[in-house]
Amino acid sequence: MLRNTPSQYGLVARLLHHLMALLVLGLFLLGLVMDLPEKGGALASALKALHLNLGTLAMLLLILRSLWRASNPIPEAGLSAPNARWAHIGHLALYGAMALQMLLGLLILLSRSRDTPLWWGLTLPGAGWSWLHKAAEEAHQWLAWGLMALVAGHLVMVLVHKAKGDSSQRGMLKRD
Ligand code: HEM
Ligand code: HEM
Repeated sequence: MLRNTPSQYGLVARLLHHLMALLVLGLFLLGLVMDLPEKGGALASALKALHLNLGTLAMLLLILRSLWRASNPIPEAGLSAPNARWAHIGHLALYGAMALQMLLGLLILLSRSRDTPLWWGLTLPGAGWSWLHKAAEEAHQWLAWGLMALVAGHLVMVLVHKAKGDSSQRGMLKRD
């Protein structure tokens, strides 16, 4: 089924989760490697362009995903009340950190001194506010690691629930 039920994630929520997981991990790795080639060279520019264009795609998907989540039931986790609350807080923290990281990325572009044409036909204007540009770059760099720490915690909890046999009741990793 496409929509969530009170006990299971639906196909759309699962596809959006997997696509965004790939994108977020890919954006992190791209962020790490895109400064390795010679600055200003063709490879560095191509990797940066890939990062920010995929980043804007991830922003769009996050908006769609949040709207989908808000208009679907959140499946019952089958955990004790305190554990269910922690799982909920953990998931909201992941959403919050993704949103903030993406907004900071956008701010880096909107505050730099030149415009940024995107592959999707839109051009982001640059305001040339160097103090904001620097601050946003710094915060984006640090939050990338914060987000990865949250993802690592998320993966540990998925494994813990699997080991305890109380995982996947909501079917996020279901194949069909
Ligand atoms: C291989 C990597 C991953 C696996 C195996 C995985 C697995 C899961 C599972 C099993 C759930 C459902 C948890 C439950 O039923 O209590 C879930 C939910 C979730 N995951 Fe992941 N995940 C992965 C990567 C990520 C990444 C990279 C992110 C984002 C940064 C992410 C964000 C979320 C969010 C926000 C939810 C809550 C979904 C909702 O209720 O809307 N996951 N994940
Ligand atoms: C969750 C998503 C994202 C992650 C995990 C991520 C991660 C990173 C990382 C690790 C860096 C390198 C930081 C450094 O060491 O200097 C970086 C740089 C950057 N990111 Fe992201 N990013 C994300 C989303 C975005 C978005 C949505 C945009 C823009 C729309 C964006 C634009 C940029 C820009 C412009 C840079 C700096 C490039 C430069 O050095 O000039 N990022 N990002």
